[in-house]
Amino acid sequence: MAKKELKMRAVVAPTETVIVSAYDKDGKADACTLAFYMVSSHVPPCVTIGINATQKRKTLKDMLETKAFVLGFPSVSQVKEADYLGVESGYQTDKLANIGFTTSPAETVYAPIINELALSLECEVIRTVTVGSHMQVTGEVKRIIADESILNERGRVVLEKLQPIIYDEEAGRYLSVGEKVADAFRSGIELKRTLEAEKHG
Ligand SMILES: Cc1cc2nc3c(=O)[nH]c(=O)nc-3n(C[C@H](O)[C@H](O)[C@H](O)COP(=O)(O)O)c2cc1C
Repeated sequence: MAKKELKMRAVVAPTETVIVSAYDKDGKADACTLAFYMVSSHVPPCVTIGINATQKRKTLKDMLETKAFVLGFPSVSQVKEADYLGVESGYQTDKLANIGFTTSPAETVYAPIINELALSLECEVIRTVTVGSHMQVTGEVKRIIADESILNERGRVVLEKLQPIIYDEEAGRYLSVGEKVADAFRSGIELKRTLEAEKHG
């Protein structure tokens, strides 16, 4: 198939839309929406977020001061609120109060949990690395708190219940999670076995 070279940029679509919250030095909670988010370690469990350090982000300043943040997952029914938290700054107004979001202190770190989000990860900042325009902030997950309504009987998060918001930077839009297409770590193993059988048989 013919290939085309694209304009230089980091193609980030699709990613999960998350909301990070932190307290400032006066104990006031702020939060902002992020698309640059990844799981960066299983043991210990860590997540890494990328925040633009060249522009003013109150949430970044706060989490660097307190060495903590909470990573929350909004659902599709909260897409307007999530977008708002990404287009307004805590330097200008009390964003959380404006949209009726309330907070409770996290138990393991000094950061606010947004009560209205169904899944929250309490994180301690353990490392920062600046890469170009963005500071990569790695948080060790110290506690995970979830609404019972999004869990299955084994205590695992059910995506169809969480209904996370997928961010499509290419088209500048939000999507919901789609259909299951295969079982993870199974379809590849089946293919591996087939290829091995063809090679040896
Ligand atoms: C969908 C979406 C994704 C965003 N992703 C990021 C991101 O990954 N990193 C970042 O630095 N800013 C990101 N932003 C922008 C911040 O959320 C925005 O600058 C916010 O106003 C910062 O608020 P604060 O000053 O209260 O921290 C995103 C905004 C939106 C709407």
